[in-house]
Amino acid sequence: MTETARIGLLGKGTVGGAFYELLRERADYVASVSGKRPEIAGVLRRSEGDFEEILAASDIVVELMGGTDPAREYVLRALGSGKHVVTANKQLLAQHGDELFEAARANGVQLRFEAAVAGVVPVIRVIQESLAATEITKVFGIVNGTTNFILTEMARTGATFEEVLQRAQELGYAEADPSDDVGGADAAAKMAILARLAFHTPVGLSDVSYEGITDIRPEDLAYAKQFGLSLKLLGVAELRDGGLSVRVFPCFLYSGHPLAPVEGPFNAVMVEAPAITEITMSGPGAGGVETATAVLGDVVSILSGEAPVHQATRRLEIVRDVASSFYLHLEVADRPGVLAAVADVLGRNDVSVRSVVQHGQGDEARLVMVMHECPESRFYAALRELEDLDFLRGTPRAIRVIEEEFV
Ligand SMILES: NC(=O)c1ccc[n+]([C@@H]2O[C@H](COP(=O)([O-])OP(=O)(O)OC[C@H]3O[C@@H](n4cnc5c(N)ncnc54)[C@H](OP(=O)(O)O)[C@@H]3O)[C@@H](O)[C@H]2O)c1
Repeated sequence: MTETARIGLLGKGTVGGAFYELLRERADYVASVSGKRPEIAGVLRRSEGDFEEILAASDIVVELMGGTDPAREYVLRALGSGKHVVTANKQLLAQHGDELFEAARANGVQLRFEAAVAGVVPVIRVIQESLAATEITKVFGIVNGTTNFILTEMARTGATFEEVLQRAQELGYAEADPSDDVGGADAAAKMAILARLAFHTPVGLSDVSYEGITDIRPEDLAYAKQFGLSLKLLGVAELRDGGLSVRVFPCFLYSGHPLAPVEGPFNAVMVEAPAITEITMSGPGAGGVETATAVLGDVVSILSGEAPVHQATRRLEIVRDVASSFYLHLEVADRPGVLAAVADVLGRNDVSVRSVVQHGQGDEARLVMVMHECPESRFYAALRELEDLDFLRGTPRAIRVIEEEFV
């Protein structure tokens, strides 16, 4: 007779509801591949269920509530009681990863979280298991579908950030309170998780420098098109200067870049290592049934056997001043000597220009430039000096550019 695996489901909203249905549909298949038939032992919602009873009745706890309170306490209780845990909760892992992984190891149970980063795209499994034998040097990508949808639509239609955000909310691509997505905090949490796994070092949310997309203007996208650039909110975790840099920032990419064609609510993650060159994975980064598919995949893995629990084997220093290339947009007075004065400021700060385009006349005059890579501190020193020039008609706008060419 097939054994039963009892699943305690904490949260039955968008993802939890889809997981509940998917489990029913796929229970026979899961039983056939794992020898254990999954069954829901209990459901916890605000209006339903009792955590202690569900915990006592479960072999595996699936946490799909979101937030850190009471999710942290419940997950720690489950791990401490010797139950395996599956979660899709990026903020929980990014803020409390150290104690959660330690609790899993101490109790000899699994903590799986494929759905916490890039939805159903199997980035966690690939980094932790498929690439366990290689020394990863860089993990980066588009890990927030809401912002990728907004940037794609702004570029396509010329509409403002506010107009497209409203459309995204109507279509269900953005939440009623979109601040975590558009401000970069959601992507930062995901990059903290990816950096921890890829580099075997403790990384928390506070180690990630992040910016969002709320200041992006349609004209930046329009001018950038002339350089063949497209705009993405990128998360980057990489070994730099003997330490680790983890950042989230809006960034222009040249058209040959593998992430440039990733549009709409899709996610994509690239992994680089000398032994493997690079791997790109892409697909839907959110959605009820998509995310539930990744959650059930984790349950099947647990039922099928052992998997490594993340362990930090070193402590890398966090490096904040890294080298970047920038796009710079200056609204200037239309008079002689402007370009020379800008070039003088950049030159004195050792920032060199890759390309420059002069646009418009009179009140419409502007300089749009792309710089070569240099330490960010040097570029920002130049930017502060530029802000003081008397011919500037508005605050300069700077957006990073990835120069790397892919063949
Ligand atoms: N939605 C996505 O596409 C997506 C994608 C990737 C990852 N995730 C992650 O998946 C998790 C769940 O997201 P979701 O979109 O499914 O959220 P959701 O629709 O808001 O559902 C949350 C569920 O948890 C329950 N819950 C919340 N706080 C609770 C509390 N204090 N006590 C008891 N029950 C509580 C809610 O109860 P009620 O039903 O009573 O309100 C609801 O059933 C989050 O960590 C999210 O970041 C979501």
